[in-house]
Amino acid sequence: MSPDPSDTLLAAQRRSAELEARIAEDPARFRILTGDRPTGPLHLGHYFGTVAGRVRLQRLGVELFVLVADYQALTDRDVAENLPEHVDGLVADYLAVGIDPGKATIFTHSAVPALNQLLLPFLSLVSVAELSRNPTVKEEIEASRRAVSGLMFTYPVHQAADILFCKANLVPVGKDQLPHLELTRTVSRRFNDRYGPVFPVPDALLSPVPHLLGLDGQKMSKSRGNAIPLSLPSDEVARRIRGARTDAQRRITYEPDTRPEVANLVRLVALCQDRDPVEVADEVGDAGAAALKRLAIDAVEGFLAPIRAARAAYLDDRAQLRRILRAGNERASAIAEDTLREVRAAMATDY
Ligand code: TRP
Repeated sequence: MSPDPSDTLLAAQRRSAELEARIAEDPARFRILTGDRPTGPLHLGHYFGTVAGRVRLQRLGVELFVLVADYQALTDRDVAENLPEHVDGLVADYLAVGIDPGKATIFTHSAVPALNQLLLPFLSLVSVAELSRNPTVKEEIEASRRAVSGLMFTYPVHQAADILFCKANLVPVGKDQLPHLELTRTVSRRFNDRYGPVFPVPDALLSPVPHLLGLDGQKMSKSRGNAIPLSLPSDEVARRIRGARTDAQRRITYEPDTRPEVANLVRLVALCQDRDPVEVADEVGDAGAAALKRLAIDAVEGFLAPIRAARAAYLDDRAQLRRILRAGNERASAIAEDTLREVRAAMATDY
């Protein structure tokens, strides 16, 4: 029987708290691999959900690999048409929020052949039944309403190659990615059992920050039009926040369970200004939703203005941006080739 998903989540949360303590003690023992599909600019949900955590861990001294998952983005046919634009935008987002290319390795799938080659032996280690059970892939297939490509079905195995090529032992993720990480752990164990010890069995690190919802109270996502991208111009920030859903009660409180939309706006202010949400709600109090929205517009604008400017500057100098990406690709390739050499030796295919 497969474990109850809520047990898995609880276990991952407990484990993440332990890991945070160990990271603080000895950051040099950890290597992080994380990444995003280049499907459009990062939004505040991405930022507070995972990206801010990467910057924090980088500052603590953990080594960071950040993947622009361009081959994984091919699961979405519409995105595939604008890939270079999306890739440059995502790299500019990373740099603008403080991922330091002097310390971190920023790279793309398509430029690291040895990473992609790991997919083949890894595919031999998982069954079609296991791939069919993946709840995140199932949801994506349901949402896409198109013929399911072979890539859609197997991308979690490719993701195992993303993580294992550089022998990362820590993967900061949201809970939708936990099934993928579980598969990576399975691939790693099976490879090591069959061919000898090559790979670590990486841990998930769940973000300790509560999730930011979209402005309609649903999951924040680009496709729902309820997101605030880091690149959003200030008049558009104001327009979207003014249009955010609230409720009929005048007094502003922070009650995520019973007043999710209001609580989400409060949380948005709290995150952008690094404050306690209850204090933010008390400050607005009887001034009501309009005052809360004005505060949110100011908070988001104060937070985004420097990021927006930095992002635009990176995109104005594409040659420099591509130089940064190329340096990351070269470094990732060198590491992937070393790992592939080990894999071929372990498999006795190093003819
Ligand atoms: N699947 C991730 C997403 O949709 C992106 C991703 C690709 C990733 N490879 C990864 C995340 C490896 C963590 C580790 O956001």
